[in-house]
Amino acid sequence: MMPNPGPDASQPSIKASTVIRNIGQLVTVAQQPIPGASGSLQVISHAALAVRHGVIVWIGPDNDAEPMFQSNSAASADGITIIDAEGAVVTPGLVDSHTHLVFAGDRAEEFHLRHAGISYGELLAQGRGILTTMNATRGADTDTLVALAKARLDTMREHGTTTVEVKTGYGLDKITEETCLRIITNLNALGESGIHKLGHTRVVPTFLGAHTIPPEYREQRSAYVDLVVEEMLPSFVGMARFCDVFCEREAFTLEESRRILTRAKDLGYQLKIHADQLSPSGGARLAAELGAVSADHLDYASDADLDAMRDAGVVATLLPGSCFSLRSPYPSARRFIDRGLHVALATDFNPGTSYCENMQMMMGLAMSSMNMTLEEALMAATINGARALALHDKIGSVEVGKRCELTLWSINDYREIGYHFGVNLVQSVLVKW
Ligand code: NIG
Ligand code: FE
Repeated sequence: MMPNPGPDASQPSIKASTVIRNIGQLVTVAQQPIPGASGSLQVISHAALAVRHGVIVWIGPDNDAEPMFQSNSAASADGITIIDAEGAVVTPGLVDSHTHLVFAGDRAEEFHLRHAGISYGELLAQGRGILTTMNATRGADTDTLVALAKARLDTMREHGTTTVEVKTGYGLDKITEETCLRIITNLNALGESGIHKLGHTRVVPTFLGAHTIPPEYREQRSAYVDLVVEEMLPSFVGMARFCDVFCEREAFTLEESRRILTRAKDLGYQLKIHADQLSPSGGARLAAELGAVSADHLDYASDADLDAMRDAGVVATLLPGSCFSLRSPYPSARRFIDRGLHVALATDFNPGTSYCENMQMMMGLAMSSMNMTLEEALMAATINGARALALHDKIGSVEVGKRCELTLWSINDYREIGYHFGVNLVQSVLVKW
């Protein structure tokens, strides 16, 4: 990391293409101490930052920016674009590291059936749940799936998310899984280019062919695992960065999960796992054993398994939206944070257990129901989300050397996050690519 140079009244001393000025509070979430920043989130009041080729080259007090990057107009003589943040609170762009964004149809009926007493597991066993969405997704044409995914991505961006991990998992045959994976990889190209208020969203593709056993393989589940291991995984190398498995009573056993993830690792995928969500599945332990980047849900993970995850450097991703929708108890984040795990928060956006695009809602739930502080929740939604995608050297904090991917909030103080709830506090995102 470069140190911030002092102001130089004679000349612009730092080459920048864009300078963002008049930031009310810059919540850097920096991992290195920043002079003049305060608190665990390293907040700078009345701040500015400068960007070149999409990378942050300077941050500091707005007063110090004046001599280096002089301009009051939209573009100065030396070609620097000045953006006036109008006193907004600025944080790193929110990172949603676990979503199931590509699907057709909805499950409103099942949501209400669950409230009437039929469990998620019972619905799945009846051929509903994930399979309801699989049928709708298989039956939809590609244009429809793209339009639905793009609209959801737009909603996420409007709520402050600049990076989204997106899983397949509603195709469950090779053709539809591949169609969904191509849609996901193409989403990266759909944004407007680097424009204030219309920035790109970074999309990270994950293959989740092992979401559940499709009906045509119900009586021969090992043949479906063979299909995933021998045909799908080798074909999708280079398309998906991660491979994920739903390791659960109702989905894949620990041994099946180990087989799929081991093969994926051998092929060069990074690993994720839906672990210990509905029952103690052993998924957290497997994540540690295989060196997964993250293990997600973890409601039933044992203390010993969490310790193994910590020792292996596996990020714990907590998904309060699914507890909200399933009306299941929220895990206390203290169990994870106090034993030294990095905790990420994500929406788990999906039509069954968390139909919510909004990371602000997840932070609010984490603070109200999971014993997280605001500071922990903001870290979980930024730098630790980036860790859960192995992108923390690029994004997740506002620091010199990191990408300029920012969320601008229409609030006066970042402490309004989680406090003022149920409305969208985000004004825009600002992404320079
Ligand atoms: O993370 N648990 C598995 N996958 C999703 C649910 C998907 C669905 O029900 O459609 C989850 O909760
Ligand atoms: Fe999920």
